[in-house]
Amino acid sequence: MRVTASAPSNIALVKYWGKRDAARQWPANDSLSMTLSTARTITTAAPSAADTIIYNGRTLAPEAKDFQKIARHLERLRAATGQTSGLAIETHNTFPSGCGIASSASGFAALTTAACAALIDCADLRALSARGFTAERLADLARQGSGSACRSTMGGYVRWFSGDAPDRQSVATSLAPGHFDLADVIVVLSDEEKAVSSSEAHAFAWSSKLFPPRLAGIPERLKRLERALAAGDFTRLGLEIEAEALEMHAVIMTATPSVHYLTEASVQVCSWLRQQRQRGGIEAYFTIDAGPNIHVLTRPDDAAVLASQIRTAFGAQVKEILMDRTGSGLELSGDNGRERQRERGLSERITVR
Ligand code: PMV
Repeated sequence: MRVTASAPSNIALVKYWGKRDAARQWPANDSLSMTLSTARTITTAAPSAADTIIYNGRTLAPEAKDFQKIARHLERLRAATGQTSGLAIETHNTFPSGCGIASSASGFAALTTAACAALIDCADLRALSARGFTAERLADLARQGSGSACRSTMGGYVRWFSGDAPDRQSVATSLAPGHFDLADVIVVLSDEEKAVSSSEAHAFAWSSKLFPPRLAGIPERLKRLERALAAGDFTRLGLEIEAEALEMHAVIMTATPSVHYLTEASVQVCSWLRQQRQRGGIEAYFTIDAGPNIHVLTRPDDAAVLASQIRTAFGAQVKEILMDRTGSGLELSGDNGRERQRERGLSERITVR
């Protein structure tokens, strides 16, 4: 059956950084993210004689690195579903590709869902779940493609529990979507490919002297953050996520080899944000993944004004600003849902230039 899955991206508030077991994708710590709404990957899958992949409108050659990464994941999914068929995959992102926003989380969540559904002939998530491919199971499979993808299978605020063994990991929505709706103003400062990928840099974490104390402090940080989320306390949440992002980058920079994802412009945007807050401006806080771009969380009503203030303050240093907000999880539909999904994805995208 030909099916289309749509999966959201997510932004980590407590970061997944470092692995206890790389082969089994076992993270060093629990993490917690906010699911996004606008930034999504939309993937169509249909049984086919051989695997073919169209990525953002481009047919990938079987020798290409991206093709092989996707094909390896399809092998896992064939094993999980007990099927042997090839798959024709067509995938695109609703956010501009090459804008520096990682698509691996939404990409592997959408690929996992669409491929499993096509392989076992399920036109919606309910049917997929009835066949044993629950959100939890899909998360488990998506995680094997890219760790953070497991959090993209659910909406709202999602916690990835590392568990006490690699096969006892799980994900859960901490709060219902909509309970605490925030905007994510994504300030794109660079669209260049990272010199060191996050999958490579995870391995360096253990060499930083700051890593053990970081890991020791994560349970308390998660508690504080979950309390702030439950209470709708934006100020506490914001201060916590800024401290968390800086801590992860301190680990990354003090590891061997030392990696610098932050650029001068990244630091300037973070400082500007704090200064304007201290001056009584808009309440907004930053978080930063393994790259130079800044995610600024603010209340939805303040997002547009904040975006234009950032644009005014930083001019050409800012390549693009993407507007996003708290969103819900996976979607899956049979063939005729495809165009609807594509239209939705495009109309939801708002870009401030
Ligand atoms: O899923 P990966 O291997 O790309 O690692 C993601 C790492 C961060 O984005 C920096 C943090 C996170 O939890 O998403």
